[in-house]
Amino acid sequence: MDLKTTYNYSVVRKFSLMAVVWGIVGMLVGVIIAAQLLWPELDLAPWLSYGRLRPLHTNAVIFAFGGSVLFATSYYVVQRTCHARLFGGWLADLTFWGWQAVIVLAAVTLPLGITSGKEYAELEWPIDILIAIVWVSYAIVFFGTLVKRKTPHIYVANWFFGAFILTVAILHIVNSAAMPVTFWKSYSAYAGVQDAMVQWWYGHNAVGFFLTAGFLGIMYYFIPKQAERPIYSYRLSVVHFWALIFTYMWAGPHHLHYTALPDWTQSLGMIFSLILLAPSWGGMINGIMTLSGAWHKLRTDPILKFLIVSLSFYGMSTFEGPMMSIKTVNALSHYTDWTIGHVHSGALGWVGLVSMGALYYLIPRMFGRKEMWSVPLIELHFWVATVGIVLYIAAMWIAGVMQGLMWRAVSPDGTLTYSFVESVKATYPFYAIRLVGGLLYFSGMLIMAWNVWKTVASGRATDASIPLATPAHA
Ligand code: HEM
Ligand code: HEM
Repeated sequence: MDLKTTYNYSVVRKFSLMAVVWGIVGMLVGVIIAAQLLWPELDLAPWLSYGRLRPLHTNAVIFAFGGSVLFATSYYVVQRTCHARLFGGWLADLTFWGWQAVIVLAAVTLPLGITSGKEYAELEWPIDILIAIVWVSYAIVFFGTLVKRKTPHIYVANWFFGAFILTVAILHIVNSAAMPVTFWKSYSAYAGVQDAMVQWWYGHNAVGFFLTAGFLGIMYYFIPKQAERPIYSYRLSVVHFWALIFTYMWAGPHHLHYTALPDWTQSLGMIFSLILLAPSWGGMINGIMTLSGAWHKLRTDPILKFLIVSLSFYGMSTFEGPMMSIKTVNALSHYTDWTIGHVHSGALGWVGLVSMGALYYLIPRMFGRKEMWSVPLIELHFWVATVGIVLYIAAMWIAGVMQGLMWRAVSPDGTLTYSFVESVKATYPFYAIRLVGGLLYFSGMLIMAWNVWKTVASGRATDASIPLATPAHA
């Protein structure tokens, strides 16, 4: 292997395979906590209790699974579209091993109850420092590769990846600022309502940049590639980019409606969330319309099904989000399972499906094969996952609206019609349906793992060579 003339696929291979492994682990924990909500007696030991496994689930699916997919795809896309090997030599490998170390540390500390208590930023300060080191290395590798590119322009997918990398670095460093008191305990640098504000500025932009901008980078490369069509509108993609990243930054306060946060700040968050519908749908339309003239491919190509249906869920959750940010709607939805339904239509439908589509595209290419070992198994995975998502989110929507209505129902004499426990009892059937949906989605991951195993076993690690001089993006 000549390091000067080939792409660095080794790190892409490692991240792609670990994405499948962490997907299984994270979703298994999701299935366990879904079962615990149905059967609370499953809280078998403190380290297996719901309160500890829940952050383990969110960290595993977002940062271990989603993070590995983002590393794998961004490293692949930036090389292919820049006609350049990854910058920084061993630094890319450092990001792989560093990120795996972060994940293992999370998997040990969270069940032990070691947590900062900040949602999606639970890891304690020594791990936060490791994350910052890995992330800065990631930025050096990614932007270094852009700088040494041999193509004249920067393809739009890299804009989204670049914004995601830069913003996550800033979010993480600012929100994690803390005063350590022992090796495993620290207190936030912010207090009271400022702490809440910084936390949800972080939390919402974690959705906007980690779970959205990065995955839009995936969308902008893999949909045109798989559909063998150019992106519908390059101009729209640039407008989409600037409008999305500008607007997301201001929407965080919609997580803090009716709190001690000043009222005008809440309203500002609501307005920006409503505006966010436009760039989100602009991006969705740009992706879906890329299929113009190639719609027939959807019938036979299960990878395209994953990629396009993910965009439909993206459109759904970015319509629902702005609605939920309206204060009067939020008064009904907040604290209920409606939020959980919204989260998983974005997480399972958008993030999950687009990731799986990209991995099915990448993995055979990483192992010198034209396609996965079994295409019918990709099709089966698609249907099992889609039915799973529909069961999950429909159950949570119904449960959520029901809970909200029960909690606010007032009898003619002015007393509450229902006790809280009655609303919990009424939710049980929906928790059962959610568990079935989650199990289906999880079994889809197992099908994927089998297909990946057979693909890797029948292939051979292969690194493609870099074209000598071609101006267009690959
Ligand atoms: C088999 C698949 C999955 C199952 C069964 C599952 C189940 C669950 C359950 C039971 C909860 C706790 C809900 C509650 O507190 O009432 C939860 C929370 C959450 N899950 Fe999942 N999940 C799955 C996949 C995923 C994936 C792939 C992602 C992200 C990419 C994700 C992201 C989240 C997030 C962000 C929360 C916290 C939501 C909040 O605090 O509002 N989940 N999940
Ligand atoms: C235009 C885009 C979006 C807007 C305006 C939006 C808005 C909202 C609102 C209003 C809430 C409820 C806050 C609360 O009552 O506490 C929420 C929760 C959430 N959304 Fe979205 N959403 C959008 C897109 C998405 C997408 C695409 C995803 C996932 C990929 C997502 C993930 C989440 C998560 C994880 C939460 C739960 C946060 C928590 O309380 O732990 N959102 N969103």
